[in-house]
Amino acid sequence: MSGGAVNGAEEAVDRLTIEAARTEWARIAAEVARANKAYHTEDAPEISDADYDALKRRLQAIEARFPGLASAGSPTQAVGAAPSETFAKVAHRVRMLSLENAFDEAEVREFDDRVRRYLNLPADAPLDYTAEPKIDGLSLSLRYEEGVLVQAATRGDGETGENVTGNARTIADIPERLDGAPGVLEVRGEVYMSHADFAALNARQVEAGAKTFANPRNAAAGSLRQLDAAITAARPLRFFAYAWGELSAPLDGTQKGAIDRLAALGFATNPLTRLCDGPDAVLASYREIEQKRATLGYDIDGVVYKVNDLAYQARLGFRSTTPRWAIAHKFPAELAWTRLEAIDIQVGRTGALSPVARLTPVTVGGVVVSNATLHNEDYIAGRSASGEEIRGGKDIRVGDWVQVYRAGDVIPKIADVDLSQRPEEAVPYVFPTVCPECGSDAVREEGDAVRRCTGGLICPAQAVEKLKHFVSRGAFDIEGLGAKQIEMFFADPDLPIREPADIFTLQARDAANLTKLENRDGFGEKSAGNLFRAIEDRRKIGLGRLIFALGIRHVGESAANLLARNYGSWAAFEAAMTAAAVGEGPEWEALNAIDGVGAVLAASVVNAFHQAAERASIDRLVAHLDVQEAARPQTEGSPVAGKTVVFTGTLEKMTRAEAKARAEALGAKVAGSVSAKTDLVVAGPGAGSKAKQAEALGIEIIDEDAWLRLIGG
Ligand code: IVH
Repeated sequence: MSGGAVNGAEEAVDRLTIEAARTEWARIAAEVARANKAYHTEDAPEISDADYDALKRRLQAIEARFPGLASAGSPTQAVGAAPSETFAKVAHRVRMLSLENAFDEAEVREFDDRVRRYLNLPADAPLDYTAEPKIDGLSLSLRYEEGVLVQAATRGDGETGENVTGNARTIADIPERLDGAPGVLEVRGEVYMSHADFAALNARQVEAGAKTFANPRNAAAGSLRQLDAAITAARPLRFFAYAWGELSAPLDGTQKGAIDRLAALGFATNPLTRLCDGPDAVLASYREIEQKRATLGYDIDGVVYKVNDLAYQARLGFRSTTPRWAIAHKFPAELAWTRLEAIDIQVGRTGALSPVARLTPVTVGGVVVSNATLHNEDYIAGRSASGEEIRGGKDIRVGDWVQVYRAGDVIPKIADVDLSQRPEEAVPYVFPTVCPECGSDAVREEGDAVRRCTGGLICPAQAVEKLKHFVSRGAFDIEGLGAKQIEMFFADPDLPIREPADIFTLQARDAANLTKLENRDGFGEKSAGNLFRAIEDRRKIGLGRLIFALGIRHVGESAANLLARNYGSWAAFEAAMTAAAVGEGPEWEALNAIDGVGAVLAASVVNAFHQAAERASIDRLVAHLDVQEAARPQTEGSPVAGKTVVFTGTLEKMTRAEAKARAEALGAKVAGSVSAKTDLVVAGPGAGSKAKQAEALGIEIIDEDAWLRLIGG
C-alpha cells in the first residue's frame, strides 16, 4: 500500500467526470478501509497517519463535488464503529407490490375487460394505458424529504425491506437532491446492470479469482446488497424510476404525467414508455419493445401495462400483493435441448412428493441449468390435472432428450420431449407410492394433483423442511440458525431439534449436557452465545410471522398477515380455529368472509388445528412465545371497522366488487345475506327482499350516497 493515490498528480476534482470520480472514490475508499482494518483490527498500521489523512481529504473533496458518492458507508462518515452485520429493516409506509402476469394476448384482453367491468365502463369507452419495458432487476424505494434523499430500501417482503441508503447513494442515476419535489416523495423503480457492465464485472471477478454472477439481475442484487458501500460504488448500477410510494402531494393526474414529472425532477425513466388508447395499442407497443429487446443493452422480461388515469387506479386498488390496475405481459420463455439423466423425488414440508429432473447441464438464456421441476406424476405421464393431454400426450422417461425452458426467476421446466431420440431401453417412469424418506404410504387424494407422504411429523423429510421453513426469512428468521444448522441439529443425538418448540429449549438442554455446544466443531463460545441470544430475541414474535412459520399448507406470507390482521391476537385466532369446523358454523363463515381467504386455504388452516399431533406441536411451541398482537392498519378511525355490511340493489357510483373491496379495506365485513349479525344495509334502487328483511330486523338501511358520505367519499 502506498499513499500514491494522493501524490498530487491526480486530476483536479472539478475536472473529474462522474465515472472517473466513482472509480477513484471506490479505489480510495477500499484503501482507507484496508488501512482501517490494519490499524484497528490487526493492530498493524500499513500507512503513515499523514498518508491516511491525505486519502481521506481527497475522498472528502470528491464527495463535496459529487454528493451522491458520500454514502453512510463512506470512510468520511465512519466514526470507528464496526458496520452492522446485516441491513437494518425499513417498514414501507406504502407497501411495495408485485405484478400479476399475462402470457398471451388473450390474457391481456381479459385484463382490459376486468378493469372495465370493475370501473363499470362500456367496452367502447376510452381507456388509456401506459406500456413500458419490465426491467429485470430489483426494485428499490427512494425516500426524499424536502427534496433530499433520506432513505433507500429494497422491497423485501413488500412490507419490510432492507435499508441500503449508503449503497444507493453511490448510484449515478439516483439524485441526491431534487428541485421542486413534494415535501415527501417516495420514488420507486428498478436497479439493474447493463450487459456491458455485467460482462466487465464478471471478467474482473474471474481475474480476482472471485465468484462470477449468473446474470445481470443477480449481479445487480449482489452489488446493491453489499455491507461495504465501496463495493457497490465500484459496480456500475443503474436505476429507472417507474412508480412511487408515499407522497405529500400528487405528482400528476395520470401515470404518464407522473412519470414525466419524475423525469423532470432528474430521474431516468424508460424512453420506451408509451401512452396507448386501449388493448390493441398496448399490444402494438409490446411488439415494438419485443423487437428492440436484443439491442437495449439491458435485460427486460416483458412489458408492463398500467391504467393511465390515477383516479381510476385509486378506484381499482389492490389485491393482497398486486394492483388491479397493472399487469406484466411476459415475453415467451427461453429454450434449450438436453438429456434427462435421472428423476429424483423430494419430499416437502407438506409431504408433497416432488419429482425433480436431473439434466445434463445446458445453458438456457445465459444460465446453466441442471435441474428442472417435473411437477407431479400426471405431468410426467403427459396429462394435465384434468386428464387432458399435454405435450401431445408424450410421457417423460429417464434417458429422453428434453426441451428445457425458464421464464424469469422461476425453476426451469420441461416443455417437450423428442421421441425420435428416445433410447430403446427407456421405460415409462413409475411414480413411487411409498415415501422414499420414511416408507409411509404416499397417497393422492381425489382432486389433488400431488401425491403426499402420510407420515406427518414422523417423516424426517417433512419435519426437517417444516423446521427450515420455520426459521426462514419471512418466519422466525433466527440469525445463525439456517437450513444448514437445522439439518445438523435435526440429526444430533445429544442436542436435537425435531420440532419448533425444541429451538426454545435448546439453551436449557445444552446447559444440562456434558458436551456443550460451544465445544463442538463449527461452534465456539461466542457463536453458541450468539445463537442462544438470537433465539431469545425471537421469543417475542409478531402474529403474522408466527402463523406463516407454522408452515400450514396454502398459507403463504400474505395470507398469514391477512389472518393476523383479521384476528388481531393469537388468543383470538387460536380460539376461532379451535371452534371452527370445515364447511359450517359462524367461525367458518367469518374465516371465509375475509377478502383473500378462499375455502381451500380456510380448510387447510382449520384442519391444522384439529390434527392431534400437529396441534400438540403448535401448543408446545406457543407456550415458549410472547406473541405480539397484529396492528389492524387502515381501519383506525374507520366508522365501519368491525361492522357487517350488506349491499343490495343497484349501485350507481361504483360496482359491487369495488364497494366490497373498499368496505373491507376500511375494516368492515361484507356479507351476502342479511341476518341478525348485520349492522348496516346499503340499498340502491331495486333493492328487494334483503331490504325488507333488514327492515323487519330493525337494521339501519342507507342509500349509496349516505354510504359514501359515511366512509368519506
Ligand atoms: S410497477 C404497484 N413497472 O417487476 C406496481 N414494476 O414482477 C409496482 N418491474 O416488483 C410495479 N419493471 O420490481 C413496475 N416498469 C415497471 C417494472 C416493474 C420491472 C418489477 C418490479 C416489480 C416486479 C413485479
